[in-house]
Amino acid sequence: MKIRYLACLAAGGLLLLTGCERPPVDAVQTGFRGVGMEHIANPRTLQDSVNAIAERVPTVPDTPASDQEPAPEGTWENVQVLGHLSEEEFNRTMLALTTWVAAETGQGCNYCHVIEDDGEVNFVSDDIYTKVVSRDMIRMTQDLNENWQSHVGEAGVNCWTCHQGQTKPANYWFYDPNPDTVDYNRYYSDQEGIRVISQNALSGDSDNERDIWDTRHLYWLMIDMSEQLGVNCTYCHTSARFSDWEESPPQRVQALRGVRMTRHMNQEYMAPLDPHWPDDQRGVLGDGPKMQCATCHAGAYVPQYGLPATNAELWPGLQRIGDPHPGSPEYNPGTPAMMSAGQAARALGLHPSEARTAPQDQQDDDQD
Ligand code: HEC
Ligand code: HEC
Ligand code: HEC
Ligand code: HEC
Repeated sequence: MKIRYLACLAAGGLLLLTGCERPPVDAVQTGFRGVGMEHIANPRTLQDSVNAIAERVPTVPDTPASDQEPAPEGTWENVQVLGHLSEEEFNRTMLALTTWVAAETGQGCNYCHVIEDDGEVNFVSDDIYTKVVSRDMIRMTQDLNENWQSHVGEAGVNCWTCHQGQTKPANYWFYDPNPDTVDYNRYYSDQEGIRVISQNALSGDSDNERDIWDTRHLYWLMIDMSEQLGVNCTYCHTSARFSDWEESPPQRVQALRGVRMTRHMNQEYMAPLDPHWPDDQRGVLGDGPKMQCATCHAGAYVPQYGLPATNAELWPGLQRIGDPHPGSPEYNPGTPAMMSAGQAARALGLHPSEARTAPQDQQDDDQD
């Protein structure tokens, strides 16, 4: 009796162990032969995720207004960040903001604009925090598309990238007093480095001030970062030499830029919003929400698997203002031996934007 019970348990356990995914599972070699660098993807589940996202993409009028002359002086009373748009383009952008951010509320324009006692909408007033936050988010999005193309690419980002029709994106963080959780603050909002590996062989304690707690912090963050992008360590590292930049896939440089960009967003745009959040939008220590990789990536190696919904090009309001960004990086194909997961997905015919190649400019390794 007991034995049969155990056998049942074992069989159940085996079933659980065989995992949750039905084959096929494709593995694509991403590194040199023998180092075990593979990106593992199930084309069916990946295709399912891509399809699910494609279905949610909203219909917004996607042709910029033909007239791109700025609206004449005096058209608006309190416009600080969208003054370079024509009136038609301005209105198109307001409609899009409503869909991208406020779709789920059913409030339409009123989500960001005050309704007066007489029932009229006051578009000029800043007496509602959602409008103040939105203005800051527009500035941030313009900045990302103008100055951080080295991370967000030519296509850039728009409100939909993070919000997807919800007033709150699915992923953000607050200060956390619990010492047994990942401390994002030390990495995604402070300038603190996290490298721990000694660069000299047989170095003594005096050469490396990093201790076991720093190491724990580093691994915690690395595991967490991998989850935020839905990849494993070898997406960014040669596992034999984690610290070596020369032997890392180009994705690691891209990731380091992502870290710097995330800090910039938290310092320049989220921290200044702190006084504006209502109490029920704050963390346990009273601070406002902050960004992390998953705010944009949401578990995908490229946000929304590169679907054009995140495309900022069609939105002059969210685009670079003035001269084109002079330092935009040259894109060239990565070397075949060091294929990235994104390239691997492309090789499998899974990547929605086949033409995109990984940036591989010089190593961006000057942080410390
Ligand atoms: C997600 C927030 C949001 C939504 C929704 C929204 N707006 Fe706005 N609106 C703003 C922000 C932010 C500004 C200020 C822009 C600036 O400072 O450049 C603004 C400014 C305006 C102005 C200029 C007022 C002035 O003269 O100063 C008008 C008009 C306007 N919005 C109309 C609309 C209409 C119509 C809708 C609905 C279709 C709408 N807005 C929906 C955020 C929003
Ligand atoms: C990089 C990701 C990202 C982008 C891009 C982005 N947002 Fe946000 N937004 C956030 C996060 C994170 C929050 C904080 C969530 C919360 O309110 O707790 C937020 C909050 C907001 C809120 C307040 C919501 C609430 O109910 O408290 C508004 C309004 C808003 N964003 C508007 C916009 C607009 C308009 C755009 C496009 C111009 C935009 N956002 C682009 C990440 C983003
Ligand atoms: C998305 C890319 C990415 C992924 C995935 C990733 N890392 Fe990293 N890793 C980096 C970057 C970028 C740095 C350098 C960070 C810095 O200097 O701020 C780094 C640094 C490290 C370091 C420190 C090297 C040194 O010089 O001290 C170790 C160790 C490490 N990662 C291990 C891991 C492990 C283990 C995993 C899987 C759990 C992992 N990484 C996943 C990008 C990644
Ligand atoms: C503001 C949104 C945003 C944030 C925040 C963000 N990313 Fe990205 N990331 C993007 C976009 C958009 C792309 C696609 C760029 C392209 O198409 O060339 C991308 C691409 C990447 C890639 C290259 C993927 C490939 O295979 O081509 C890596 C690696 C990456 N991000 C890592 C990170 C890490 C790590 C963080 C957090 C520290 C982060 N990102 C934060 C928007 C973001």
